[in-house]
Amino acid sequence: MNFELTADQRAIQELTRELAEAEIVPNATSWDREHRFPDELYPKLADLGLMGVCVPEEYGGGGADFLSYVLVLEELSRADAGVGVTVAVHTSATTLPILSFGTEEQKSRFVPPLARGEQLGAFALTESGSGSDAGSLRTVAEPEADGWAITGSKQWITNGSRAGTFVLFARTDPATAGARGISCFILDAEHVRVTREEEKLGLNSSTTSDLALERAHVGRDRLLHDEDRGFRVAMATLDGGRIGIAAQALGIAQAAYDVARSYATEREQFGRRIGDFQAIQWKLADMATEIDAARLLTYRAAWLKEDGRPHTAEGAKAKLFASEMARRQTAEAIQILGGVGYTKEFPVERFYRDAKITEIYEGTSEIQRLVIARSILGRQVRVEPVQRA
Ligand code: CAA
Repeated sequence: MNFELTADQRAIQELTRELAEAEIVPNATSWDREHRFPDELYPKLADLGLMGVCVPEEYGGGGADFLSYVLVLEELSRADAGVGVTVAVHTSATTLPILSFGTEEQKSRFVPPLARGEQLGAFALTESGSGSDAGSLRTVAEPEADGWAITGSKQWITNGSRAGTFVLFARTDPATAGARGISCFILDAEHVRVTREEEKLGLNSSTTSDLALERAHVGRDRLLHDEDRGFRVAMATLDGGRIGIAAQALGIAQAAYDVARSYATEREQFGRRIGDFQAIQWKLADMATEIDAARLLTYRAAWLKEDGRPHTAEGAKAKLFASEMARRQTAEAIQILGGVGYTKEFPVERFYRDAKITEIYEGTSEIQRLVIARSILGRQVRVEPVQRA
């Protein structure tokens, strides 16, 4: 067992940190306040190869491993978690499923523009009536002579109003309820209409949109993986995506810890630095320990995925722990700063708002526990739908 990052992984981590400190940190507060998606940032990330860092070079990517990608997300999220989620959904929820499930034609056609950052990607699974119960989605793809006509709506789609390529799920077999009978399609921006921009508690530099599809015509070349077998694409994609959200939570918690530690060495009360009081020392010790634990879980899950080993439960554990840790420890960072932590003078209140979503998207903490419990107990903990009269 070797816990050292490789020279390549360290170089990618440092490159991302430098970019984040120069281009993101000075702007993150104003992007948050103005709810502004920083369109100008993504070409800069693309120039450094960070929009497809773990995509093979032959498809326009950086050719690095999955752990390198996790390091990129951690560093970006340490600066601005909105940027972190934009890159996460673009990469692990859009580019990687096309790479994993696509035909050679689909991979060479759709992946290079995504990996080179010429287009943003979005993952359209969730609907108003289908969140945790992803298998209950109602968007339909009706067969046509040369493909399908897709009709329905999608909700809370990260990058929805900026994306050029969508990985979208629709029901191809209306007779089958639940997870069977769902197919996965690769769509363009022209296929969808943005109906609403969401206002959120945090992640204000990212976009979250509702979409409508009105008999969007797609050819057979847009079907990703087998017809009626798209739910597997969704689940396998989320297995990897959840490791990315764990990295995002980790980056947010690290940022909060950095501010809290520095404040504890400067702020004086009762004639001493507050870091000289054991109450503050123990908070910092707990923060450092929990951040370390989350990092180890996250890097292990990334390593398992890179090695081609099962990582469903390990990714769920990493996301569950890292996200709950980030919510707890960003709150503790505010506590260490006291009154000023609750103001906009320091970024810890933004970290606290941003951390909360990591317990919700790409599967709530409750769904992560369900996935972990199934890995322990098997199918008997499967959710059986309630029969309605
Ligand atoms: N990999 C591959 N296939 C899998 C799988 C996995 N990890 N997990 C399940 N499957 C397959 C099953 O084998 C089964 O296939 P068969 O029918 O052929 O046997 C099929 O998928 C259905 O599985 P289940 O019966 O277990 O499905 P379920 O209806 O009980 O649901 C669930 C399982 C885990 C609760 C799932 O619905 C789920 O993950 N829900 C959460 C949804 C979610 O995470 N949404 C996130 C939205 S995207 C987002 O948030 C992006 C963003 O903006 C950041």
